[in-house]
Amino acid sequence: MSDDIVLKTNDLTKHYGGVHALEGANFELRKGEHVAIMGDNGAGKSTFVRQITGVEQRTRGKVWLYGEEVSFAGPLEAREHGVETVFQTLALADDLDVPDNLFLGRERTYANWLGPFRLLDYKSMRQSTIDALNRTGVKIPNIRNTIQNMSGGQRQCVAIARTATFHSKLTIMDEPTAALGVQETAQVENIIRTLKEEGEPLILISHNMRQVMDLVDRIVVFRRGQIVANLRKEDTDGQDVVAYITGAKTGAEYEGAA
Ligand SMILES: Nc1ncnc2c1ncn2[C@@H]1O[C@H](COP(=O)(O)OP(=O)(O)OP(=O)(O)O)[C@@H](O)[C@H]1O
Ligand SMILES: [Mg+2]
Repeated sequence: MSDDIVLKTNDLTKHYGGVHALEGANFELRKGEHVAIMGDNGAGKSTFVRQITGVEQRTRGKVWLYGEEVSFAGPLEAREHGVETVFQTLALADDLDVPDNLFLGRERTYANWLGPFRLLDYKSMRQSTIDALNRTGVKIPNIRNTIQNMSGGQRQCVAIARTATFHSKLTIMDEPTAALGVQETAQVENIIRTLKEEGEPLILISHNMRQVMDLVDRIVVFRRGQIVANLRKEDTDGQDVVAYITGAKTGAEYEGAA
């Protein structure tokens, strides 16, 4: 496998009983590349993400991260391996406040010589939380409130702030701006541009054609559980992509990274 491949899936498949939600997905993402996944509701986009991140166990198929075959037991393990994901149905801990959610599994400590009794550095985590949220532009009146009392948009921004705080090997965002207002959407798009400048690879699931055309290098279209097109942005346009999404156009042979 070539060195510059961040993520590769081969024949990735998920059946829920008789529902073939994902069927034989062959996908590649290269270093520094930003790829959009588009497709109608129910096309299998989130299912694809759930198989990669180990939220569910796949029916069959293989996944490689930087050349190493992986099969994560769950999103926390994926995270430990550098895969940061903003899930469509957000995986935040309802009973924790914002800083605790941001640093879940990555707590900062001091007095490390105390071993298991080392102390959590709340002050530093709180300040980083405030900085990260400022980058998303969303106003959260009190970061010490638990997540369960927050609006959908606020929750989404906490999840995005989390991905923007840690350098990850791969960032996956499943409709990150679906619940956001115009200004907050623009801020999140800026975060995505910054990830691009920093060379961090990204998979962005979005229904927003303008956003996709503005941000990514390549568009992969899912339809009825299958990858039906793999289009470099400069070779396509919104109408063309929509034709693949609706099935009006078929046959753009998928050959991994374009
Ligand atoms: N846990 C489940 N049990 C049974 N069927 C499921 C389950 N999760 C998803 N599905 C089905 O799998 C298919 C793909 O769903 P998925 O959530 O991946 O779609 P999607 O492309 O992310 O859509 P959207 O754009 O609406 O988020 C759908 O037909 C859905 O009903
Ligand atoms: Mg989805």
